[in-house]
Amino acid sequence: MLRVHPQLKDERLLALFERGVERQWPSALLDWSQEERWDRRDLEALAAIITPVYLGEQTAMLGVSAILPRLLTAGETEAALYLASMGLDEARHFRNLSRFFDRHQVTPWPTRRLPEMWRYHARLLQSGDPIDWLWGILISDLFARLFYGRLREQYPDLLIGRLARRTLVDEARHQAFADRYLTPRLVGVDAERRRELLGLRDDLFRTMDALTHRLAGPLGDLGWSGTAFLAELWDDTERWAGRLGLTDAGATPAAWRDGEDQESKSAKGAVSSTRVP
Ligand SMILES: [Fe+2]
Ligand SMILES: [Fe+2]
Repeated sequence: MLRVHPQLKDERLLALFERGVERQWPSALLDWSQEERWDRRDLEALAAIITPVYLGEQTAMLGVSAILPRLLTAGETEAALYLASMGLDEARHFRNLSRFFDRHQVTPWPTRRLPEMWRYHARLLQSGDPIDWLWGILISDLFARLFYGRLREQYPDLLIGRLARRTLVDEARHQAFADRYLTPRLVGVDAERRRELLGLRDDLFRTMDALTHRLAGPLGDLGWSGTAFLAELWDDTERWAGRLGLTDAGATPAAWRDGEDQESKSAKGAVSSTRVP
C-alpha cells in the first residue's frame, strides 16, 4: 500500500540512492568515433561472449520493473528509490552495448545458439521475491565485475575497455546495494530458506557452466578460459554467501558441479561433440 508521505529513515540506502543519481553519465562521455583496428575473428568472438551479458542488461531492467512495485507497496521506499536509479544504469549498459555492436558492425549470437541464457533470467525472477532476486542479481553483478574487469584489462585503450571501466563503477554500486539490502534481512534466516537461496545459486552456476561450454570457441579465440572464469566467480560468490550467513566457512569449491543435472550434461555433450559454428 502506497503512503502519501512515507518516512524515509534508512540513511544508508538513501545515501546510495543519492550516489546513484550523482554518478549518472551519458554515453556521449565516451569517444565513439575513435578508429580501431580489430581482427574480424576477435571482434566476432567478442560479440559472442558479450551476448549473455547484453541480454542480462535488458533482463535486469525487467527485474527492476518487476521488483520495484513490490518494494514500494511493502513500504520499502528507500530501496525502491535506489532501484529506480539502478534501472537507469542497466538501461545505459544496454544502450552502450547496442551502440558498440552497431559501431563495429557485429551482431550478438541468436537465442538458438545460447538457449540457456533465457533459463538464467527466468530462474532469477522465478519466485518474484525481492530477496531471491537480489541474491541472484548479486551473483550477476559479481559476474559483471569479473567480465567487464577483464575487458578493461585486455583492451584498456579501445572503446570496449573504456566502456567497461565506466560500467564497473555502476556495477560496484549495485553490489553495495545488494549488500545493504540483504545483510539485515538474512540475519537469523532458517536453514530451509538458506537452502533455497543456495539452490538458486547452484542453478545459476549450472546455467553459466552450460553457457561457457557453448561459448568455448569464442572464449578460446580471445584467450579466456571459461573454467577459470567460473572458478573465480564461484570463489567470489562463496565469500559473499559466507558473509551473508548463507554458508559456513569452508564450502567445497565448485560444489554446484556435484548436483549437475542431466540436462546440462547433455547440453555440454552436444557442444563438445559438435563445435558450435
Ligand atoms: Fe548492468
Ligand atoms: Fe548491474
